[in-house]
Order: sequence, then structure tokens, then C-alpha cells
Amino acid sequence: MGDEQQATTTAGDDSALRARVEELLAGMTLAEKAGQLTQYFYFRLPEGAEAEPALGLDPSAQPRMVEAALGRGEVGSLLFVTDPAEVNRLQRLAVEGNRQGIPAIFGFDVIHGLRTIFPVPIAMAASWDPATIEAGQAVAAREARAVGIHWTFAPMVDVARDPRWGRIIEGAGEDPYLGAAVAAAQVRGFQGPALGSAERVVAGPKHFAGYGYALGGRDYDEVNLSDSELWNVVLPPFAAAVEAGAGNVMTAYMDLNGIPATGNRWLFDDVLRQALDFQGFVVSDANAVRSLATHGFAEDLTEAGARALAVGVDLEMAIADPAYAHLPEAVAQGRVTEEALDVSVRRVLAAKLRLGLFDEPYVDEDRAREVLADPAHRDVARTAAQRAAVLLRNEGGLLPLDPSALGSLAVLGPLADSRRDTLGPWVFDFDLDETVTVLDGIRAAVGDTLDVRHTPGIRPALRTFPSMFDMFGGNAPEEPEGFDDEAELARAVELAAGADVAVVVLGEWQNMIGEAASTSTLALPGAQQELLEAVVATGTPVVLLVMNGRPLDLRWAAEHVPAVLDIWYPGSQGGAAVADLLLGRVSPGGRLPFTWPRTVGQVPLVYSHTTSHEPQNQGRRYWDEASTPLFPFGHGLSYSSFAYADLQVDRETLTTTGGLTLDGSVMVTVQVTNTGGREADEVVQLYVHQRSGTASRPVRELKGFERVTLAAGESRTVRFPLGAAQLRYWNAAVRDWVVDAATFDVWVGGSSTADLGTTFSVVRGG
Ligand code: NOJ
Repeated sequence: MGDEQQATTTAGDDSALRARVEELLAGMTLAEKAGQLTQYFYFRLPEGAEAEPALGLDPSAQPRMVEAALGRGEVGSLLFVTDPAEVNRLQRLAVEGNRQGIPAIFGFDVIHGLRTIFPVPIAMAASWDPATIEAGQAVAAREARAVGIHWTFAPMVDVARDPRWGRIIEGAGEDPYLGAAVAAAQVRGFQGPALGSAERVVAGPKHFAGYGYALGGRDYDEVNLSDSELWNVVLPPFAAAVEAGAGNVMTAYMDLNGIPATGNRWLFDDVLRQALDFQGFVVSDANAVRSLATHGFAEDLTEAGARALAVGVDLEMAIADPAYAHLPEAVAQGRVTEEALDVSVRRVLAAKLRLGLFDEPYVDEDRAREVLADPAHRDVARTAAQRAAVLLRNEGGLLPLDPSALGSLAVLGPLADSRRDTLGPWVFDFDLDETVTVLDGIRAAVGDTLDVRHTPGIRPALRTFPSMFDMFGGNAPEEPEGFDDEAELARAVELAAGADVAVVVLGEWQNMIGEAASTSTLALPGAQQELLEAVVATGTPVVLLVMNGRPLDLRWAAEHVPAVLDIWYPGSQGGAAVADLLLGRVSPGGRLPFTWPRTVGQVPLVYSHTTSHEPQNQGRRYWDEASTPLFPFGHGLSYSSFAYADLQVDRETLTTTGGLTLDGSVMVTVQVTNTGGREADEVVQLYVHQRSGTASRPVRELKGFERVTLAAGESRTVRFPLGAAQLRYWNAAVRDWVVDAATFDVWVGGSSTADLGTTFSVVRGG
């Protein structure tokens, strides 16, 4: 390759890159341009599998159709191919089929790992540790890039406040500030220092925007969202991801305030491009451009494509029969201009050049094998799972367990030894053989020193309606043959009764959470509650491990089970990490990234509500049940204890001269001390409340946090700046960002109920 071309593919050299883009564009036909804007799924279903009817997919015709389009040089991108040999084969078809040899960009949902599976995203958020999150996604990027994937459809940065929505598991929970920090950390992990960095992939924050607010928590259903909620809650994580350099953004499926998000000009023009200054390319969610027609917004596919492109959806993700294949016809009919295609093609080509695809379209299959087998990746996953776990309850200090003081342990429950469930949803390339379940982890940790007995106790619970992910095989638990419910439960009770401690692993089977896995109940599915009550009734001390991606109804457990540890879906090394936690090799330091309701009837329930009439009755809004949470946002216990003291602000007033200008910021300092007898982590959290102003503001809002590791007896001073960036909010009365002159309360502590407080004020000046 000549020097000139080499230069165009170097990250950062924009003028050469732009020149190369123009050169390529000038040589393209309209059909080739439309092709560059089309991304096809490519997958072969397992032998005998039936395609999900809603996908409109003929499993045998689909790959042939894609290969034919590749041969015509009319495919810009592929998704769902993860086998490096297959990537190379299809890439060759793309390069050889295209007159200018333009390679395809390969995308995939690398959500929480490719081969090495990390805890699910909500769990990573529960670590409240951007460094851990970044390290995890860097490993995921390395594995993905090694197999030939250039781009991940992650992070999902949708704020989720209704746990009935299954995709709460893919995000960072309810809070925009935590969500923004988690989003930025993921983008850094995926992309590295710059787009095009070695062993990294393009990050695509999604789904733009408001998808987490589906009516009734029902996936894909409409969203009605105030502008105030949109700017103050939904957009900050997107803004943070864009600021961190995210190269891509994905659209959302649903209607936002009556307009499909994928056809919403205001979202892409005013918000994404102008307010957020996004420079990358936009991809539709799968089939979401077609949906503009099927949902009755556009009259046909040609119009759907024309309108999506015109609002700024650069690339269409399609399963079959893409709307963007009709773009040449739309241009001929005057429904969209060729210039509109050019704008989007430029963005797609620029991404390919930045990633170096023209230099290296193919992957080294041997190296892929080596990277996937790198044991260092497993260590990162184990640490992540340790740091994600949240100790919800620990009465009488039951945890950590001291194996030298125990003779036997019963490890019970249907999820205790389920490899597939340990990994969680949204993974496809896992290795079940190397997945460590809770039972495996405990057994490996205690060796022969403890008698460890296991039985599931109950049969797996099944979904009433199957999941579309079932077509990939191995996702749904199977109905066990000849299962004797009574005898199995009796055996669990017998094992519990004969053990010194019973560890019970309960939660949701992984196919009950994620996309298309909304629920109408937060109750433990199947006979799990019965199992738990029967085991507790034996009188043996019980540790409940919760495997979940959403809060579940644990009201009974919160009264009757002494120790409850939320382990989430902890990933490939999950069981090893859980054993480390149970045995006290590390102390739990994760914190809840959402408010944990008592019952489904309370949802949505958030800590950052505003104050209303009769605030003294805030916890008594229902006649039948407290309206307070079971566990508050930010909650999480430790094997140690912490004390907070000496909360100070370095100045008592800030002065505003109007707009968003303040004469500096307040530095809040607090001293946190590990008052227990062992090293442990604390997540120091700072909340503010604006007492008055030009709008009602939440009773508390997170505006700073830091996870610290302290030795026994160690003290540390933690500092948080509060300036315009933290104090501004979007005000519906003036339809803009404001900083009000007001008094602000500040609290710092270990959860959203922190009570060590102080105040400062913003005053008008000048
Ligand atoms: C649909 C999901 O909504 C989206 O998040 C995902 O990236 C695509 N399918 C591709 O798998």
C-alpha cells in the first residue's frame, strides 16, 4: 500500500482521511451508496432450530440473500458473525464484491464479554467503580477485535426506573449521574484512547432515546416522557458517552411522545448532533427503519427508508429486505436527496478508515484463539464479580463464613449449579465448560475441608411465553424428566437440616430477563419461595444468594433470612468470586444502582423524587404497604464498618451572574474511617438538594461518589467539587439549563439515606 493511503487510515489525521472518503464516494453508484448504509444480520441457526416468527426470517434463505448482496458490493456492514474464519470468508466476499474493495464493518452485541463473560451490566454498575468497568470492557473489546468484530452495540445507557422492563439488566439503573459515569467508563474500555486504537472496538451507546421508560415496563411499547425528564435523567448518560468519544449511537424502537424514535428529526438533529455534538454515525436498531412502515408512520418501505435517512439514521440494521435497499428509488422519486446519502456514507466510510479496515480487513485466526484463551481475562472477570456483589443484609455477622468453624455446607437451589444462568443473558460465545457456578466455586475453595452437599430442591421455572433468544438453543432451562417435586424438596430440607449453614441460590432464570423479558411480577419464579421457607424452617442459618438483574420481591427474606448477598449473574468466574466473598477473602463493596421496591405495585420507585403534598406521609402513600423501598438506592453492607466525620465545604457561597456562570465551585470534603477490623471497600456517596428555585427539585440527587479501599482503622479524606456542572438542571419553564440562586443541602455517606449534612448557597451577584 502507498504512503498516501497509509496516511488516510491513521487515527486522528482528518484531512487525509476526508480526502480518501471523497475519493471513494466519487466512485460509487447510488446502489453502492445505499449498500454502504445497510447492515445485515448474518446467522445460521442451530440444526433444526425454528426461527422466531416475528423476525420475518427464513433461516436458510437469509445467509444466501446476504452473500448475494455482498457479491454485488452492496453491504456496508454485517452483524452477528463471531467465528473468525467466517468473518474472513464473508469479508473476502465484501472486499472482492465491491468495485473499490470497501471492506464491511462487523458489529456485534458485546454487552458483558465475548468469550470471557463478565457480570451483567447492571452488576458492573453496582461496583460503582469506573476503573473495574473500563477494565472489563477493554477485555471484551480485545476478545471481540481478535475474532474480527470492529464495533459493539454497547453500552446500553438507557436509564431504567421500572424493573418490570427486562432490559434494566443491560443498563446502569435509575440514576443519571451514576449512569453517566458508567457510560463513559464503558466507552473508554471499548474504544481505548482514540477510535482506531489497537485491540479496541467502536462503542455504540443505545437506544436513543427514552427506551427505558416503556409504558408498563413492556418492552418496545410507547414512551411518554417529559422534556424535563429527558434532559435531566435520560440524556446525561448519552452526553457522557458522546463526550468520551463514542463513535456510534443506536436508535430506539419505540414511539417517543408519539413519534417513532427512529424517525424523530428533533432527537437526531437538535439533540444528538447539535446539543450533544455527536460526530459519529447512527445505526438503527434491528428492523427499526422497516418498523416505521409496519408501525403506521411511513406509508411503505421506500418512505420509511427515505424518512429515516433524512432525519439522520446513517445505517439501517436489517434482518432481511432492508428499507435502505429502496433508497435509489426514493432518490429517483425525489423523496430524499443523493446528498443525504452522501452525508451518511461519509460517516460510515470515515469510521472504516479510522478503524484501519482498509489496511487490515482480515483477522488472524490463530491469534484469535490465543487471545480468547488468555487467562488474564478470567482474572479481570473474577475481580469484577467480587466488586459487583452487594451485601443486602447480614444479621449477626453470619457472613463471612469461617470454614474452620464449620463441618458441612448445603448449597441449594436450582441456580446454584446452572452454568448457563451464571452467565446471564445477552451472551452467545461463552464456554460453558469453563464457567464456574456457585457450587463449583465453593467446592474449589474449600477442597476437602468441608462437606459440601447440593440439590436443586425444585424444578426450573419456565417462561409462559417463549423468548426469541430460545432459537439460538441452550437458553431456556429444560423441563427435567421424572422430577419428583415432593421428594426433591424433602431432600433439600434434609440437606439443610444436616448442615451447619445452608447457602440457597435463587433468582430468575436468565431467559426471564433482558430483551423481550418484561415481567408483571417481581416474585421469585416457580417454587423458589417455598424452597426458601422450607429451608429456613429447619433452623439452620441461611445465606441467600440472589441471582438477578432486577430487584425481586424479597420482603419475606428481608425479615427471615439473616444474610442476603446479591451476586447478580456474575459471569464465567462468578462462582469463584462468590466463594471469595462468602469466605471473606474479599469484603463486599458493591452498592445498589437502583431503589429496591418491596413489591411490583410500587414501581416505578426512585430515590430522587420531588417533594409533594404531605411529605410526612411519603412512606404511607398506599393503604396496604409502605411506599418506602425495601433497600434504598446506594445501599450495600460490608464485612467492616465505616464512620463519616468532618464534613466541610471550603466556601459557603457561590455567586451567579446569570446563565450557567458561577464564580468557581465548592469543594466538599469528608473524612471516612474504616472502623472495623479488616480491609474493606466503602462507596462514599454525595447527594445534594436544592431547597428552592424556579422549579421543584428532587429531594436528593447523587452528584459525586468514590469507591475507596481502606485498611482496618485507616482514615481518608475524600473530596468532591460542586460547580455549575453539578448544580445546573434543565428547567421546563424556560426550556433551558439553569443554575438557580438557592441554598443547597449536601449529604455524604454510604447510601442515599446518608445523614451527615451541611449546606452552602448560590447567591446572585454582579
Ligand atoms: C435489538 C436490540 O434492541 C439491540 O439492543 C441490539 O443491539 C440489536 N437487536 C442487535 O442484536
